Amino acid sequence: MDMIEFFHMNGGIGDASYSTNSGLQGMGIMKTKGVIEQAVSDLCRSSVKFPKTLVMADLGCSLGPNTLLVGSMVIDAVAKTSLEMGFKSPQVQINLNDLPTNDFNTIFIALQDLQVNSTNGNINHQPACYFTGVPGSFFGRLFPMKSLNFVHSSYSLQWLSQMPELEEINKGNIYLSSTSPESVSRAYFEQFQKDFIRFLRCRSEEVMAGGRMVLTVAGRTTDDPRDEESNRLWRPFTMALQDMVYEGLVEEEKLDSFNLPQFTASPTEIMNLVKMEGSFEIDHLEIFYLNWDAWKGKKNMNDALSQLKETEDDGTVGHGVAKAIRAVIESLVANHFGEAILDDVFKRYGQIITNTRSESHDVVSITVSLTRKM
Ligand SMILES: C[S@@+](CC[C@H](N)C(=O)[O-])C[C@H]1O[C@@H](n2cnc3c(N)ncnc32)[C@H](O)[C@@H]1O
Repeated sequence: MDMIEFFHMNGGIGDASYSTNSGLQGMGIMKTKGVIEQAVSDLCRSSVKFPKTLVMADLGCSLGPNTLLVGSMVIDAVAKTSLEMGFKSPQVQINLNDLPTNDFNTIFIALQDLQVNSTNGNINHQPACYFTGVPGSFFGRLFPMKSLNFVHSSYSLQWLSQMPELEEINKGNIYLSSTSPESVSRAYFEQFQKDFIRFLRCRSEEVMAGGRMVLTVAGRTTDDPRDEESNRLWRPFTMALQDMVYEGLVEEEKLDSFNLPQFTASPTEIMNLVKMEGSFEIDHLEIFYLNWDAWKGKKNMNDALSQLKETEDDGTVGHGVAKAIRAVIESLVANHFGEAILDDVFKRYGQIITNTRSESHDVVSITVSLTRKM
């Protein structure tokens, strides 16, 4: 199963879209603002001549507020650095990349908001910005040799290029869990290793010497990828599918053959693979947590982003998580099980999450800031 053919976030700006339901990832991006600003500032300051044009790429940009958020952070960081250094702001070219099935039209329609949001008091230093859409997989080459100064990617690189080839059935699971066979765990890691090295190799050709990358992924803190932490979001979804198998609504064989093509890596795995590939130096790595309870009482995830206050409305936590996860994996679930189960399975998923509130709701994120070696 090659992801490039059908994997996409839910398009548009409606109630089920990624645009409306990506506030948790947005919170994650906000937490990396300092790292992004530092990388852009270091990039400008370490250049022999202050750059006249800064070319950046956001890889796996998807659509909605988060795409604009990343762009506006970089624009503001460029404006701030050039103001501090007394130089004219460089012009900024922002390449927005995602798989060809991504809803690029929605991004382009929303781009005018970015001009308004990115002024941030630096109106005179506001860089001129040029946007381009770049469809294609980031596991292959996307840009000419040495054409990029800065690369950003958030919550995209945990997605694999394809489902790993499994020698054994991952019975009762849709991702790695404590009951997954060792061979399944190994196959997942080997696919991630192959993909991540391919990603670094392609970027090493495209990023100029001294260029920077800031990558944020859904990850884990534990050594064993089969630890509960990795499966937190997916165990309730497995339970929902199992209930549907018991009720005869989903075939058992269908469930046994469904595995999510993603891998939540640990900081050590990421550091080792960067070292093994050899083209980039790690400047900074940090781990942070996002808590699902941000969904509490919010109609959608963008409410959660703007008003992070608690309410007693427990019932909406599961509903909010289910909507957010549906916006991400609906195409995968529909491709494997068919569209008919979608409403039912995501409703059950939400209910199971709401009923298991005592469990930890922290999702681990890892951000790594890198420099292309000279
Ligand atoms: C969860 S979304 C994250 C979007 C956005 N960066 C954010 O932080 O909200 C993951 C995105 O990665 C994209 N993606 C996954 N694999 C990809 C690949 N091989 N090449 C390009 N984009 C990919 C998906 O299509 C999706 O839009």
